[in-house]
Amino acid sequence: MKISLSPATPEAWSGSVLALGIPKDDPQDLVAAMERRFDLQLSAWLKQKPFTGKSGDLASLQLLRSDCTALVLVGLGDAAEVDRNSLRKAAAAAARAANGQSGSLALHLPWGSEDPAGDAIAAAEAVRLSLYSDLRFHSKPEPKPCPDQLELLGQWPAGIDAALAAIQPVCAGVELARELVAAPPNSVTPSELANTAEALAKDHGLELKVLERSDCEAKGMGSFLSVCQGSDMDPKFIHLTYRPSDAVHKRLVLVGKGLTFDSGGYNLKVGAAQIDMMKFDMGGSAAVFGAMRAIAELQPAGVEVHMLVASCENMINGSAVHPGDIVTASNGTTIEINNTDAEGRLTLADALVYASELKPDAIVDLATLTGACVVALGDEIAGLWSGDDGLSEALESAASNAGEGLWRMPLHSSYRKGLKSLLADMKNTGPRPGGSITAALFLKEFVEAGIPWAHIDIAGTVWTDKGRDLNPSGATGYGVRTLVNWVLSQASTAAA
Ligand code: BES
Ligand code: MN
Ligand code: ZN
Repeated sequence: MKISLSPATPEAWSGSVLALGIPKDDPQDLVAAMERRFDLQLSAWLKQKPFTGKSGDLASLQLLRSDCTALVLVGLGDAAEVDRNSLRKAAAAAARAANGQSGSLALHLPWGSEDPAGDAIAAAEAVRLSLYSDLRFHSKPEPKPCPDQLELLGQWPAGIDAALAAIQPVCAGVELARELVAAPPNSVTPSELANTAEALAKDHGLELKVLERSDCEAKGMGSFLSVCQGSDMDPKFIHLTYRPSDAVHKRLVLVGKGLTFDSGGYNLKVGAAQIDMMKFDMGGSAAVFGAMRAIAELQPAGVEVHMLVASCENMINGSAVHPGDIVTASNGTTIEINNTDAEGRLTLADALVYASELKPDAIVDLATLTGACVVALGDEIAGLWSGDDGLSEALESAASNAGEGLWRMPLHSSYRKGLKSLLADMKNTGPRPGGSITAALFLKEFVEAGIPWAHIDIAGTVWTDKGRDLNPSGATGYGVRTLVNWVLSQASTAAA
């Protein structure tokens, strides 16, 4: 989709779909202008609908005998309360209403005077991301027509075009993440993730190292390898690196949980556990892949970014791990596996040890780690655990810029006792209450003391059944925009 800024007024613009944000308080000005522009009895029709400009209101009208094909009005709510997120919602609603029409879409919203570039980026991302559809697995795909050109109408300050350069790479990153998550587990396997990494490395000049099973054995990754003992598919430990062309001021590591399928193992997922959705258990890795794709294109200065994914499947056969097995992670910690379904943390443990060895300035991991996080925060907010206030605040602010829900949760060390094992250094699961907290405390054991680390549980946000705002039903690509925002924020401070 081509995206551009245009100084045209809604009265003067001509193209396919003209979409206007209408505030609740005073909808009359624009409406009156459109009445004149298209020679319509618009206000009478809107009264009937009824459309009052409140948030969620939508009116869409096919235009005959006009130089535009459709007019879309989107309610913005109280003008005084319009913020970046309401612009995102309005842009997404306009895009959905324009879906089915080809040609150009114009969007006229009350762009904030403080940061018009930020508003333009938010709205453009919302449009492109809400028009996304995935027809890869149809034998006869029938793509719906949809606008291929977006024009943001407004009085734009000079020189802001350059700020818009991030939109396409970031959206491409989100779409890569969605495609990886949505693809079935017989398509996205650990090897396929390694192939994706290889393609990214080749196309975008990233450095790639893939550790095979024997390499992981040599590194003593007994925790990671225990998870794939029962699978016919080889594990892949994937390490992608972005190096800036200038001096490195900061080294960051992004770690993603990469379970291409999680059956639960001998603690098999039954009943309400949604085993059929466990293809999305590589959502953390999809997010870090998507972020790396965007970062590779955006080339932030002064910041070196590593991506680590310990990928495998959690399956059952005669070699699968037994509940009760004791394994040794690459830092020497022994773990009694009292629940084979708490496998994500076992894979992350060795990835976090590896991450720590890179001596980074910060480590952030993303993982569909616990059902308990879904219970706590639902599907619009991910949980954040970190002992580092600076890193937490930077991530919270990155998520807020990106419009992705993120909420800091307690890394309450007293619950560590729930992981005590009679025989080994620790168990992999504690009691059910506070299950997301003990999961985070488990991970913490594998991060070298002193390295700022944050864990983001995306079990709820990785997928939406119903679709919402800029996420059509299915995989959301959650995390890509937060991670890219965070990395870019580190680059600018690094360069300063
Ligand atoms: N992949 C799941 C977590 C999950 C559950 C994500 C539901 C999305 C929706 C993870 O590997 C898991 O099974 N966790 C267990 C941990 C428990 C055994 C301590 C869980 O949450 O039930
Ligand atoms: Mn599991
Ligand atoms: Zn899992």
